[in-house]
Amino acid sequence: MHYLQIQGGAKLSGEVAISGAKNAALPLIALTLLAKNELKLTNVPNVADIKTLAQLLVNLGASCEFEDPNTLKVNTSSVNSTMANYDIVRKMRASILTLGPLLSRFGHCEVSLPGGCAIGQRPIDLHLSALEKMGANIEIKQGYIVASAPNGLNGARIVFDKITVTGSENIIMAAALAHGTTRLLNVAKEPEVVQVCEILKASGINIEGIGTSELVIEGSGQRLLTIPDIKVIPDRIEAGTYLCAGAITNSKITVTKVNAKHMLAVIAKLEEMGFGIEIDDDKITISPAKEIKPCEIITTEYPGFPTDMQAQFMALALVANGVSVIDERLFENRFMHVSELARMGADIRLNGHIASVYGGSELNSADVMATDLRASSALILAALVAKGETRVHRIYHLDRGYENLELKFKQLGANITRLEE
Ligand code: UD1
Repeated sequence: MHYLQIQGGAKLSGEVAISGAKNAALPLIALTLLAKNELKLTNVPNVADIKTLAQLLVNLGASCEFEDPNTLKVNTSSVNSTMANYDIVRKMRASILTLGPLLSRFGHCEVSLPGGCAIGQRPIDLHLSALEKMGANIEIKQGYIVASAPNGLNGARIVFDKITVTGSENIIMAAALAHGTTRLLNVAKEPEVVQVCEILKASGINIEGIGTSELVIEGSGQRLLTIPDIKVIPDRIEAGTYLCAGAITNSKITVTKVNAKHMLAVIAKLEEMGFGIEIDDDKITISPAKEIKPCEIITTEYPGFPTDMQAQFMALALVANGVSVIDERLFENRFMHVSELARMGADIRLNGHIASVYGGSELNSADVMATDLRASSALILAALVAKGETRVHRIYHLDRGYENLELKFKQLGANITRLEE
């Protein structure tokens, strides 16, 4: 197993190019299940989660070939299985994104239930109840969701009780091949959801309300689509993570190949904390703060502050001059990084879903353990300013979502090395 060794104290400088968004590429790869043609996805991040989903498609009978590390050629016309098995789904919850496309295309499928995960229970009840409203019969058998709709899914009016990102994506994809019109209310508006809608529109599906919380989708009646080649949008969470690296070391760095419009909540917080932000086309430059001020954060759905940036801002708050308050509203157990940060000397007090972060105490190096994808990046950020050499273990969590992580940090001047245990 690999771990990262980080010598704290270096100032960062220079530019780092941001990869395509993992959370956009995943639903877009699932979306290829609705295509009758072969298509290419470009700007695909070369990370473990993408390879896992590509493997799942291959298991279903599709051909998936990486032309280069960031270009995936997919042809799902040969799919002859509708079973997403436990071995793959347990590796990655987002495999659930095949449920809507498989069911709408084939009229039946068997997808393993994702289990719990480090950041909480994460149910999928909203995905299932929406599919039931569209006429599916759903049973849970031996850990599998066994879904059937022998004559295809039917359009329906669905109000999501909670805003769910993958739930919205699953049902939008299902609705695209359903018979009749589906009206979705309280849909997620994340840029990753919007890209799925835009690609469907470009594939001939009549879809109204893109980017709003209410969508009207006219299904194709199980007719497969001609989907054009897709360029995956930039990863706003990766970009935010590197901006936090600039911030925590109080350095001037630039992230390139980004879409700043997708990052307004994160940019606003960095500015509130005293950092300079300059946006120039697809580049964002962060400059040092005279005094790093504490922040107040409430994680919420887009366009609010993303829960996927909560851990990184907690690390950043450790160098602020005062007490920051972070209220995690989306996931009940997304504070796993707190006890690891405490091992580095952080003073963070938890009260339910609210964390008070006392900035200003000296951080020291330690052996720390990554617990989930974003929590792990918080440990790297803290290590950048800790005194001494920190070792971050279990970095397979990071490899799930950050492309060329140590290379990119090195490029910015960090003292970081990947080593084998
Ligand atoms: C997606 C992102 C993840 C991000 C999260 C929130 C992907 C692959 N993952 O996860 O990185 O942290 O959005 O922005 O895009 N819920 C239910 N029932 C459901 C579905 C969700 O109660 O059927 C609840 C969840 O427990 C959570 C909230 O709704 O409290 C939001 O979850 P959701 O948006 O579904 O997260 P994911 O799509 O799994």
